[in-house]
Amino acid sequence: KGQEGHTVGYADIYAQAQQNPQAFWTRAAGDIDWVTPPSKALFDENAPLYEWFSDGQLNGCWNAVDRHVQAGHGDRIAIIHDSPATGTTRTLTYGELQTRVATLAGALRARGVGVGDRVVIYMPMVPEAVEAMLACARIGAIHSVVFGGFAAHELAVRIDDCTPKCVIAASCGIEPGRIVAYKPLLDGALEVAKHTPAFCVILQRDQHPATLHDGRDVDWHAFQSGVTPAECVPVAGNHPAYILYTSGTTGQPKGVVRPTGGHLVALNWTMRHIYDMHPGEVFWAASDVGWIVGHSYICYGPLTYGCTTIVYEGKPVGTPDAGAFWRVVADHKVKCLFTAPTALRAIKRDDPGGALVADYDVSSLESLFLAGERADPDTVEWAQNKLGVPVIDHWWQTETGWAIAANPLGIEKLPLKIGSPAVAMPGYEIAVLDEHGHPVAEGQLGAIAIKLPLPPGTLPTLWNAVERYRNSYLHRFPGYYTTGDAGYRDVDGYLYVMARTDDVINVAGHRLSTGAMEEVLTAHADVAECAVIGVNDALKGQVPMGFLCLNKGTTTTPEQVVTECVALVREKIGPVAAFKLALVVDRLPKTRSGKILRGTMVKIADGQDYKMPATIDDPAILDEITAAVTHLGYGNAAGQDAKAP
Ligand code: COA
Ligand code: AMP
Repeated sequence: KGQEGHTVGYADIYAQAQQNPQAFWTRAAGDIDWVTPPSKALFDENAPLYEWFSDGQLNGCWNAVDRHVQAGHGDRIAIIHDSPATGTTRTLTYGELQTRVATLAGALRARGVGVGDRVVIYMPMVPEAVEAMLACARIGAIHSVVFGGFAAHELAVRIDDCTPKCVIAASCGIEPGRIVAYKPLLDGALEVAKHTPAFCVILQRDQHPATLHDGRDVDWHAFQSGVTPAECVPVAGNHPAYILYTSGTTGQPKGVVRPTGGHLVALNWTMRHIYDMHPGEVFWAASDVGWIVGHSYICYGPLTYGCTTIVYEGKPVGTPDAGAFWRVVADHKVKCLFTAPTALRAIKRDDPGGALVADYDVSSLESLFLAGERADPDTVEWAQNKLGVPVIDHWWQTETGWAIAANPLGIEKLPLKIGSPAVAMPGYEIAVLDEHGHPVAEGQLGAIAIKLPLPPGTLPTLWNAVERYRNSYLHRFPGYYTTGDAGYRDVDGYLYVMARTDDVINVAGHRLSTGAMEEVLTAHADVAECAVIGVNDALKGQVPMGFLCLNKGTTTTPEQVVTECVALVREKIGPVAAFKLALVVDRLPKTRSGKILRGTMVKIADGQDYKMPATIDDPAILDEITAAVTHLGYGNAAGQDAKAP
C-alpha cells in the first residue's frame, strides 16, 4: 500500500526505480544483511562501466544461510534433493546446511583457498553442488560452475580462462540409461589445460566411484575431516561472487562476472515481487546448477529469501514418466515452478491430454514461470489449461542474472498476453532499435537494447576481458546494452522476443554457439569449410544443422565424414550440443564478398519463403542446399510444419 492507502502497482514501482534508482535500490539493499552498508547504490564514475553497492561489505553465504539460522529458522528445510536418478529424496535444514558449508569452506581454506581465488565446480544435480557454491561464497572465493553436459575440452577452456586454485567435482552424473563418469572428463580436461589447479576435491558417488590421483585429488569427506569450520568473510559489494561462462559467437565462451552485492539485492527483490514468494515456501527451478537459472533460482534467490529450494536430479519425462514434475510439486508442496518451455513440450508430447496431472494433488502450485527460450503459445495454453494457474513467460539472459521482462505477480498480476514475456522490470529501460540506433514504432521488429545503466545484479564486465565486454555489448548502440535478441513491442508496452541477432542458438533451453561448433568441424581433416545453423525443432525449439564442404581429393566417403563430425562435436563440446544433423554439400551459399548466407539457409531448412539475396554470388547453390535439407527431412519436405514449435 502507498502512503495514501492506494495499492502500489507495477506502473508506480517501475516509475520509482526509473526516477530515483539510488533510492529504489538502496531500499531494496536494506532487505539483505550488510556488515557495512554501501554509501550509495549506483557507482557511475566509470560510465559506461557501472557498478552497484561497491563500497558496502557483506557475505553471500551469510545472506543465503547463516542469517536464517540466526533468525531462529535453523529447522526450516533449505534444500530438498529429489532424485529419481538414484531413487532417493533427502532434505537439509538451514542449520544442517550451515554446518556442512562451514566445514567445506574450512577445508578449502585450510588448503589455501581464499578471497578472490577461483574454484571450478563440475557436478551433477546433488545438494553438494549448492554447498560447494556457498562454501566459496563463505570465504570470498569466486566459483565457476561448469554444466555436466559439457565435455573435457569445454571444461579445459574454462579452466584456462579463470585459472582456478581448485576444482570440485563429483565422480559421476546419472543420465537416463547411462552413468556419465565425470572424473575421466575432468582428468582429460586437466591433461589438455595449460593451467594446473593445486588440487581437486572429488565427491564419490556409489553409482560410479572414481580413481583418485595421488597428490592431486582429495576425497570430499576425507579432506573435511577434523577441519575448523570457516566463518563468513566479508567482501566488497562489487566483489565477484562467481563467473558463469556462456556461449558467444566464437568457441571462446564469455565469462560473465556476477558481483556479490547487486545479485543478492536483486534476487531477494525478485523472489517477492516477481515470483510472489514468502520465506518458508517452496520454490522449484527445474533447471541445472550449471546454468544461470540454477545459480539464481536453485541457489542464491530462494535461499537468500529464506525459501525451500529443490535440487531435482531427473528429467521431465522418462524418470519415470511425464508425471514426474507433478509428482514433485505434490510431494513437496511447490508453490512456484520455473522451467523451460522445452520441458513442457516433452511432457505434452508424452501426455497430450494431461492425464497425469490429475494423478497428483498439485493444489499447492500457484504459478508456473517459463524462460530460457521463446515460449510458444501452444505450450503456454496447454500448461494453463492443464494446471489452471498463471503461466508466466519471462525473458532474461545469463548476463542479466534475473528477468529483464516479466509479469510481476508479487506486485500485481498484469493481463497475460500469450507469446509475450510482458513488460520491463524495474531498473530495465528497454528500447527496440533500428540498425541506426533509432527507436522503431510499436509493432515493428528491431534489435532489443537496454538503456544503461543496467540494474543491480547484472554483469559489470567479462572475466579478464573488459574490451570484449565493451565490443560485445556496449559498442553497437552507444548508451545501451545490446541484448543480442530481436523483437518488438505492442501498444501496451508488452515485449515480444522473437530471435537472436547473432550466431547463438537455443537448443532445449540451452544456449549454444554455432561458431563454436564450426570451429570443431573445421578441425576435421577432410572438412575444408562449413556452416552450422539452428533449425526449428518441435521438442527442443532449435537444433543445430551442419553443412560440410570437403577437401578436394579426399578419399573418405561423405557418410563417414558426417558420422565422424557428429562424434567430434559430441567429444569436443559435449552431448548437450545435440549435434546430430549434418550433410555434405559442394559449396556454401555466399555473398560476393564471401560472407556465408546463414539466414537464407535457415529459411530454407525451416521451409519458409525467402527472398533471393541481392548480393548472392551464385544463386544455383541454393538449389543444392534445398535438395540437401530435403534429404534430411527438413525444408519443404513433408512434416516440416510439425517441426516448428
Ligand atoms: N550431464 C551429462 N550429459 C547430459 C547432461 C548432464 N548434466 N544433461 C544433458 N546431457 C546429455 C543428455 O543425456 C543427452 O545425451 P544423448 O544425446 O546421449 O541423449 C544430451 O546431453 C542432450 O540433452 P538434452 O538437451 O537434455 O536432451 P534430451 O533429449 O536428453 O531431453 C528434454 C530433452 C526436453 C527432456 C530436456 O532437454 C530437458 O529437460 N530440458 C529442460 C532444459 C532446461 O531445464 N534448461 C535450463 C534452462 S531454464
Ligand atoms: P541464457 O543466457 O542461456 O539464459 O540464454 C539467454 C537467451 O535465451 C536470450 O538472449 C534469448 O535469446 C533466449 N531467451 C531466454 N528467455 C526467453 C524468453 N522468455 N523468450 C524468448 N527468448 C528467451
